[in-house]
Amino acid sequence: MGERIVLVGAQWGDEGKGKVIDILTENVQYVVRYQGGNNAGHTVVIGDKKYVLHLIPSGILHDGRICVIGHGVVIDPKALIEEIELLKSQGINVDDNLKVSDKAHIIFPYHQKLDELRETKKKGKIGTTKKGIGPCYADKVSRVGIRMADLYDKDYFRKKLEINIEEKNTIFKDLYGFKGFSADDIFNDYLKYADNLKKYVCDTVMLLNEAYKKDRSILFEGAQGTFLDVDYGTYPYVTSSNSTAGGACIGAGIGPSRIDMVVGVVKAYTTRVGEGPFPTEFGDDLMEKIRQKGGEFGATTGRARRCGWFDSVLVKNSVDVNGIDKVIITKLDVLDELDTINICTSYTYKNKQYQNIPGDPGFLEKCKPVYEEHPGWKSDTSQVTSYEELPINARKYLDRIKKLIGTEIMLVSVGKSRKQTFMYNNAKH
Ligand code: GDP
Ligand code: IMO
Ligand code: MG
Repeated sequence: MGERIVLVGAQWGDEGKGKVIDILTENVQYVVRYQGGNNAGHTVVIGDKKYVLHLIPSGILHDGRICVIGHGVVIDPKALIEEIELLKSQGINVDDNLKVSDKAHIIFPYHQKLDELRETKKKGKIGTTKKGIGPCYADKVSRVGIRMADLYDKDYFRKKLEINIEEKNTIFKDLYGFKGFSADDIFNDYLKYADNLKKYVCDTVMLLNEAYKKDRSILFEGAQGTFLDVDYGTYPYVTSSNSTAGGACIGAGIGPSRIDMVVGVVKAYTTRVGEGPFPTEFGDDLMEKIRQKGGEFGATTGRARRCGWFDSVLVKNSVDVNGIDKVIITKLDVLDELDTINICTSYTYKNKQYQNIPGDPGFLEKCKPVYEEHPGWKSDTSQVTSYEELPINARKYLDRIKKLIGTEIMLVSVGKSRKQTFMYNNAKH
C-alpha cells in the first residue's frame, strides 16, 4: 500500500534531510518539494560522489521517481536551469522525472537585489541566504507576484513585469541609491528561461492527487526547519515560508486527510545559520571542535554554522507543531569524542521554569537553558550498523532523547553515506 509521508527538519535546518530523503526514496514513487527555494542546500553522498540539491527534490538521484517542485516553492529559473544542467552532466536522468508547478512564483533579479540591500544594513539583519526568497514571497502575498504559467503569455508577463519594475526601481533609487533594473533585459532573459523549462511545467496538483488515487507512495521533502517557519519559528529570524508539516498540504495541494505520516529529522545536537536566538549555543572551544568534526558549513552559502547542545524543549515543541510520528536522529558520530554531553531539558526565565516557548519578545535570547549532563561514549560510532553495537552511553543518550521528546526513533545516522544508517528498535527500548 502506498503511503504519503511528510518529512520535516525539526530544528533550524541542515538536520541531514537530504541524506534521509535519499534513503527513504528507495521505497517511494514521488518526491515533492513544497516550500522554500534555492535557499535550501540538501547534501546527498553516494559512494565517493557528493550532490547538493537546492531546488530539485533529493529523490532525483534515484532514477524512475517523479520529482515535483510544487506551487509553494519559489523558483529562480536561472538557478533551476543550472542545477538541472549540473545533474545531467553527472549522468542523472532529469528530463523524464522532473515536474514543475505552473503556479509556482518566480524569483527575479529585483528580489535578490532587495534581499541583498536589506541585509547590508547594520540593524535588523536576518542573515538570509540573499537568494531573494523573502521579497519573492512578499510579492506573492501582496498579489503582485509572477508565476511560472505567466511566462508563457508574453503580453500578460510583460505588463506584470513593468508594473513591478516601476515600483521596485522607485524603491531602489529613492531608498538605496541603486539605479534599478531594465524591464527589457529581464523580459528577454526570462523568456529564454521559460523556453528552456517548458517541458517540465504542468499542473502538479492534479498529478499528485491522481498519484494518490492510484495509491502511489509520495514523500514530501521539507526544506529549512521548524524554527525557521514564518509562523511558528523564532520570528523575525526565520525564512518566509511554512517549513512545518502543514506547509506540505498548502504548497503541494494535497489535503491533510491524504497524509499518512510525519517524520522529523533531528540532529543529535543543534545548529543554526544566520542571526537569531540560540539558547544552547556553545562557547568558542566546543563550537570550533563540533563545527570541524560535523563539517558544519552551509551547503548553500558556505557560512560557518553556529553549533550547540541538543535542545529537547525545541524538539518536543517541534513534535507537537508538526504532528511528528517518528524521528530520525542524525550525526550521532559527531559527538563521539566528547567527555560529557549536555541535553537542555527546560529554560529558566525571571525565576520561572519553562518547557515551552512563550511569545514574549526576547524570551529565547534571555532565558537560561537547564542542562542534564550525560557521560560521553568516547569511541568511534561511524562503523556501527545496529543499535545493539552502539556503546552503552550512546544508547542511553538516544533513549533519553526519545523519552524527553516523546516520540519513536525510526533510524539513526552515524555518517554521510547511505550505509551509515541503522534502525532503532522501539519495542525494546
Ligand atoms: P539538510 O539541509 O537537512 O539536507 O542538511 P545539509 O546537507 O545542509 O547538512 C547536513 C550535512 O551533514 C551534510 O554535509 C551531510 O552529508 C552530513 N551528514 C548527514 N548525516 C550525517 C551523519 O549522520 N553524520 C555525519 N558526520 N554527517 C552527516
Ligand atoms: P535547508 O533546507 C539552514 C536561514 C538563513 C537565515 C534565514 C532566512 O538546507 O535546511 P532566507 O534566505 O531563507 O530568507 O534566510 O533562514 N535558512 C536556512 N538555514 N538551512 C536552510 O535550508 C536554510 N534556508 C534558510 O540562514 O537565517
Ligand atoms: Mg542544508
